[in-house]
Order: sequence, then C-alpha cells, then structure tokens
Amino acid sequence: MLTLPPGPRSQLWSLIGYLRDPIGCMVPLARKYGDPFSFPGKPPMVCTGDPAGIKAIYTAETDSFAPLSKDMAVFLGRTSLLLIDGAEHRRLRKLMMPPFHGARMRAYGEAICHLAERHTAGWKPDQQVMAYEVAQQISLDVILQAVFGVSEPARKAALAGLLLELINGFSPLLVLLPSLRRELGGVGPFAAFLRRQRLLHEQLRTLIAAARAAGPREDILSLLVEARDEEGQPMTDEEVMDQLILLVIAGHETTAISIAWALYALHRPENAAALERLRAELWALGPDPEAEKLDKQPYLEAVCHETLRRFPLAPAPSPRRLLRPLELMGYTLPAGVGVSVAIGVAHFREDLYPEPLRFRPERFLERKFTPFEFMPFGGGARRCLGAALAGYEMRLVLGTVLRRFRLRLASLRPDTGKVRAANVGPAHGVRMIVEERLA
Ligand code: HEM
Repeated sequence: MLTLPPGPRSQLWSLIGYLRDPIGCMVPLARKYGDPFSFPGKPPMVCTGDPAGIKAIYTAETDSFAPLSKDMAVFLGRTSLLLIDGAEHRRLRKLMMPPFHGARMRAYGEAICHLAERHTAGWKPDQQVMAYEVAQQISLDVILQAVFGVSEPARKAALAGLLLELINGFSPLLVLLPSLRRELGGVGPFAAFLRRQRLLHEQLRTLIAAARAAGPREDILSLLVEARDEEGQPMTDEEVMDQLILLVIAGHETTAISIAWALYALHRPENAAALERLRAELWALGPDPEAEKLDKQPYLEAVCHETLRRFPLAPAPSPRRLLRPLELMGYTLPAGVGVSVAIGVAHFREDLYPEPLRFRPERFLERKFTPFEFMPFGGGARRCLGAALAGYEMRLVLGTVLRRFRLRLASLRPDTGKVRAANVGPAHGVRMIVEERLA
C-alpha cells in the first residue's frame, strides 16, 4: 500500500480554501498535518515548505520529473515549454534564456524607465489610478519588445489587444475545473476563449512567416525561427507560437502583480517607515539617475524581495510528477506521485521570517536566505526563465514611479488576494490616489 504523508481528505474543501485565502491557505495545513503533507487526487500531490524537503526536490536529478498534468495544453498549447520535459525542455530553455540575462536584458533598462514615465505621465493630483492596470500595461510593453522586437506603437497595440483578450478569457474556474470546458454550440466562456485563441493564432502565424522571411534579428521570435535541431530541422509554427504565448503570459501578469503588491504594501499605514526609508534612498540619487544606478539601490532591492516573499504568486506553483522514486524527509515517494514546493509555507516560517505576516524589507538586509528558504521564482531545472528580468523591471518601475509621485491607497481595507487565472494577485487591483507630483 502507498504510504504518503497525512493531509486533507477532501479535494473540494482544499479548492474552497484556496479560493478563499489563496496566499495563506497552506500554512494551517502544514500546522495541522505536519510538513510534508499530501493532497488527494489523481495522482495525489505531496507538498513541502521545509528547506530540507525543498532541497531534495530542487537538487534531484533533472530527469526525475515531468509536468504534473498536460491539462493546461488547451490554454498554453501542446508544445509549451511549461508542459514538455527531458532533453526537449533543456534545449528550448537554453535557446530562450539569453535575452533575459546579462547585457541583452540590461539593454531594456532605459526603455523600462521610459515606459514607466510614459504610462504615468498623465497622472494628476487627486486622480484615482489602478496600480495593477498601469503595471500591466508597462510589463506587457516590455515583454512585447523583448519577445517580438515590436516597438512600433500601432503594431504593438494591436498585438497587445489580442493577447490581453486571450489572457483575460482564462477564467480561474475554467483553469481549475476541466469539466466546464465545453463549447456549448458557440456560447459561454470556453467557446469565447477558443474564438479569441483562433484569432490570435492567425496573427501570430503572420508574424512568424514574416520573421522567417526577414532573417536573423535580436528578439526571441527571431531566435526561435532560426533554431535548428540535430537534423537541421526548424521548429514548427505551432512550437514557435506556443513559446511566444507562454512568454507573454508568464512574463507580464506576474511582474505586474508583484509591482502592484509592492505599492500596496508600501502605502499601508503600518509600513510608513519602510516607504520613507525607500524615498530617502531614491531621492539621494539626485535628478534623472540612470537605470543602472537606480537598479543598484539596496533598500529598493530589499523591498522587492520582501514583496515577493510576503505575496507569492501561487502557494504551490508548478507541481511536478515523479518519474522515479524520491526520498523526501523520511518518505520514499513512488514514481507517479506529484510533488510541489509550498512557497506559501516556506515564506511564512516563523524560524526564518519572524512575524512572517509583517512587511519588513530589513530582513533581507540583515541576513541572506538560501534558494531553499526563499524561492519566489521556484528552483531547479524549471526555475523561472524570466527571474532576472522580473526583478530588474520591478526595481526600475517602482523606483521611477516613487521618485515622481506621492500616492496613497484609496481604501485601507486589507487585501488578502484573489486567484486571477493562474496567479494570485490583489483582489481589487490596488486603487490609489495621486497626492502630489514631485519635482
Ligand atoms: C515577479 C515576476 C515573476 C514571478 C514571481 C515568477 C515566478 C515563476 C515561478 C514560481 C515559476 C515556476 C518555477 C518552478 O517550477 O520551480 C516560473 C516559471 C516560469 N516563468 Fe516566471 N515569474 C515571474 C516573471 C516572469 C517573466 C518576466 C518571464 C518571462 C520572461 C517568466 C517566464 C517564465 C517561464 C517561461 C517559466 C517556465 C520555466 C520552465 O518550465 O522551464 N516569468 N515563474
């Protein structure tokens, strides 16, 4: 008989718990059942937020895991990086990585600051702004430029419109409950989603054909169409399209949510000292600092880390299915079982983060955390491909906005988050009032 760690018995209750309190739902489970703990299901899933268990998962041999389910193929495409494994996964990652690192990534620095300025240029005192929406526009522009090499405004706007329509059609219920995915003679949310998907695919096919005809450029679309396998074969249109969609989905809502959470946390009255300390650091830079200088500010970096700790994008992202047995904290988990790192437990451990619910950026100045204690971008062979770009973009956008405006929250009601498609974000988008435009 299979012996898995204890855990809740009802899948439905676990789902309700997640929808009710998506950030905090895992902590009481770890307290009640111990760590690791299991969720029922086909297959069952074992979660851990203990650094020893997390280390066992992230340092296991790379071919120990496959994605837990191919269920998301209908949204992401069959050949999406997120859903493939083994050698094919490694090959694609290697190909897609360079633009998100080092000098290639830093080349976007001035553009990111410029976009943050442009999208906030019209803000006036007493105006209400939705922090999440503005951050989403900025991060979508950044990712479109990196992925498609498109900076021409009209083309960018047309593409952005189609992509946003598709992403906004990802209702969390459609994602969580496959039984709701029915076309119903062309009516209902799933049919609408498929219509938008077809339109987007048509546009992307045109862009891919143009990139194949144009020859090598710097953007990811060009890298993907130029790539050849060992037999000299290029990727198919479907393969290229699936990676483009994944990068846009994974690369913009995530960063926008984290920027919005940072603004939310900094403007809570109990965190006024953190906001003032950050302002002082940013103001000491003098007028018009370069992106590189803005990026090097230690308190700004600590604020971003603390935001990613306190507001993880998912309590247990990206589960994996074991392809071979794994030793996990005294259990021998058999092949076939799902495993997941419970970021929503690890980031709230009292022993690592005293008073874990408090937003206290100083903890990241006082000590260093290992990749098994702090993992907002996951870890191992599937660590977030865009981690460096996401952190860079967060620092530059926050630095630029906070140097230019004094803001306050429109409502002081605490926000415990809500499930938006695949990620957990602020429930009301963080409504803010512009108090003052700073000279
Ligand atoms: C604050 C922003 C972001 C956060 C918190 C975040 C977080 C994550 C997490 C937790 C994972 C799963 C890792 C694992 O399985 O261990 C992931 C995967 C991924 N992320 Fe991000 N991400 C962010 C921004 C981005 C950006 C900007 C990009 C685009 C360049 C991106 C592209 C990806 C891709 C492609 C994967 C799948 C990697 C694979 O399966 O090999 N992410 N991200």
